[in-house]
Amino acid sequence: MDFQDVVARRKMVRNYRTDPVDPAVVDRALRNAVRAPNAGFSQGWGFLVLDQPTDVRRYWEATADDIDQPDEWLTGMMRAPVIVLPCSSKAAYLDRYARPDKGWGDRDEARWPMPFWHMDAAMATLLILQTVVDEGLGALYFGIPPHSDRAVRDAFGIPDHYDPIGAVTIGHPADGGAQGSPSRRRRTPMEELVHRGRW
Ligand SMILES: Cc1cc2nc3c(=O)[nH]c(=O)nc-3n(C[C@H](O)[C@H](O)[C@H](O)COP(=O)(O)O)c2cc1C
Repeated sequence: MDFQDVVARRKMVRNYRTDPVDPAVVDRALRNAVRAPNAGFSQGWGFLVLDQPTDVRRYWEATADDIDQPDEWLTGMMRAPVIVLPCSSKAAYLDRYARPDKGWGDRDEARWPMPFWHMDAAMATLLILQTVVDEGLGALYFGIPPHSDRAVRDAFGIPDHYDPIGAVTIGHPADGGAQGSPSRRRRTPMEELVHRGRW
């Protein structure tokens, strides 16, 4: 698919068919993800892939209030055969930048007003979303409820020095389902967003 078509067609999908996802699609998405830019080539990311029905169900059990009486959003989402949890490691960045070629041996966290570990994992996540669109499938990045963080870590053995930055469902889009905010909100015109020379 032409790059511009990938960008234009990408929108979050919240309703899936149950048809399986070719593992090669997930593999390609992950291979692309690790080509994302990342500070100092720290590569302080990790990706938990849930592609077995029991694992996918365990994710929803750990995070959803009532999987036996799901609302429209959850009904559509629970059909997705694959969930990927991109994770970021702050420790990996502090370690990397303490190396002689970076020289931040004090590991002072004040050096990091922008948490690059999350930023880099987010860039990798966009590449997952775009690859999925390029493959003709759909995906949604969504947040993990804060109160579910411990349950998700425990369910899947995520080490404490990695933080899941959210979750990405991958699957074949179905018609209908919960609509995203772009169906209710106007897209802000470019001239309100772009400032040239001076804000
Ligand atoms: C950081 C972030 C958090 C989001 N969290 C959720 C979420 O919890 N649930 C959801 O359905 N969509 C979530 N979304 C999807 C946004 O609603 C969606 O990207 C936005 O409305 C623009 O629509 P589009 O991506 O389809 O173009 C999230 C997106 C981002 C980038």
